[in-house]
Amino acid sequence: MTLTNNDKALIESTYAHLIINELNLAKCFYRNLFEMAPLIKPMFKKDTALVEVHFNELIHTAVKYIKNFEELKPELYDLGKKHRGFGVKVGQFKVVKAALLLSIEYELKGQFNNDIKVAWSNYIDQISAVMIEGLNGD
Ligand code: HEM
Repeated sequence: MTLTNNDKALIESTYAHLIINELNLAKCFYRNLFEMAPLIKPMFKKDTALVEVHFNELIHTAVKYIKNFEELKPELYDLGKKHRGFGVKVGQFKVVKAALLLSIEYELKGQFNNDIKVAWSNYIDQISAVMIEGLNGD
């Protein structure tokens, strides 16, 4: 799960492409998520556009802090804690990861490859692990 320097560089460079269509990534992500796991949809109560903006901000911050991940941990821990209030279960992180990877693949069009997949997969695992600590914490 530890990110190599190559993983970090790949995430930064692919994000530069993803950011051009930032809102499309979030839209694509939620569409994929709700198709893969329809029972998750009713858990979302807020305006979808607002959740998309928050999700984008989180991804943006996560990429910004990729080389200083320790500094991001408190925010992710609190986000995980908040997710307990949303009724989220640890087992649901798997489908969120799958939906996000699929959206990145789609948004990068032909530029997606296995190295990029492994890099993002590792980073999503790292982010999720801290959120899950917050979710399970006191
Ligand atoms: C990598 C993992 C995840 C990230 C980065 C993430 C990110 C976010 C962010 C930034 C928000 C907005 C918080 C706010 O508005 O204050 C949010 C809300 C939410 N997330 Fe996640 N999330 C993740 C995993 C999950 C999982 C596994 C579920 C399970 C179903 C989930 C369900 C929700 C729900 C229900 C909301 C609240 C939306 C609403 O109030 O309408 N998230 N998430």
